Amino acid sequence: MNGNGSEYLCLILLLLHQTSVSRPERFQVLGPADPVVAVAGEDVVLPCYLKPNISAEDLEVRWFREDFLVPVHLYVDRKNNFEKQSKPYTGRTALFKEELKTGNVSLKLLKVRGSDDGHYKCYVQMKDPQYDDDHSIQLSVEAVGTEPVISMEGYREGGIGLLCESKGWHPEPVTGSVIVQEGDTNRFTCRVQQQQLNQEKETEFHIPAEMFHRAHAWRVAFSVLLPLTALTLIGLAVLIHRQVKLLRKRGLLSQQLSDVSQQLDDVSAQKDLLSQEIHRASEEREETSAEMGKFELFV
Ligand SMILES: *[C@@H]1O[C@H](CO)[C@@H](O)[C@H](O)[C@H]1NC(C)=O
Ligand SMILES: *[C@@H]1O[C@H](CO)[C@@H](O)[C@H](O)[C@H]1NC(C)=O
Repeated sequence: MNGNGSEYLCLILLLLHQTSVSRPERFQVLGPADPVVAVAGEDVVLPCYLKPNISAEDLEVRWFREDFLVPVHLYVDRKNNFEKQSKPYTGRTALFKEELKTGNVSLKLLKVRGSDDGHYKCYVQMKDPQYDDDHSIQLSVEAVGTEPVISMEGYREGGIGLLCESKGWHPEPVTGSVIVQEGDTNRFTCRVQQQQLNQEKETEFHIPAEMFHRAHAWRVAFSVLLPLTALTLIGLAVLIHRQVKLLRKRGLLSQQLSDVSQQLDDVSAQKDLLSQEIHRASEEREETSAEMGKFELFV
């Protein structure tokens, strides 16, 4: 083959490649647009089919949730392959073997659980020529929960706190808390209702009247003790304040007393000084008169 020949070959290959890339529509994968509703514990069919209704026996059918590589169910090479199947679905999935011939690739899921709730993808792949399509289906699981369990939370402002718990409901788990007060019967009911399932469960709870009386006693004790304590504290504070004042006054008085005696001492000292001066003055006067006497003599 010469150089020109190999160029032609390349062109032909390229054209072939382009035709396979453009992917003419071989089939469509279809299913319901609305969610499929199932009750926990029962079986459900997730519908999915091909249009036109060509046989799916030689195609790959893969049902999966988030992870394409961990399928919920895998049918390939004309048989089911459970090797990579997602663990929670072990022994609970099947395709309708006879229906595959008419393009019905619906999935049967046995003993539905609350955890099965969510989005599923139905993926169908043709190997030759290469082609695939998929469809998303939502499974909504409704589960009836347990009988409600009521427990006491303890004494609360205005009564006794009751907690009501019921598990396993789907869509949502239910928890409720209320404060109850003494009534005629002291019987309290917690009722959990699921309208879609038309299901309800209830539990009754009885609180002995003494419980309320104890709650009441506590409240009374608090309402009496608290002001009493406050009053006592205030009284103590006043007493201490007064005592301190007295002590301070006493200190002041003794201070004043010592001041006064000090002043008395000063006064007596001054008196001594004065009498000394008076004495000296009288002596001086005698001396002067003596001198005067001399002076008279002199004259
Ligand atoms: C599938 O198509 C065939 C005709 O090719 C028709 O007879 C048959 O009823 C179809 N089946 C379904 C399930 O639509
Ligand atoms: C597919 O097969 C299942 C089980 O037989 C059936 O319930 C369902 O209606 C079929 N779906 C279609 C589109 O034929």
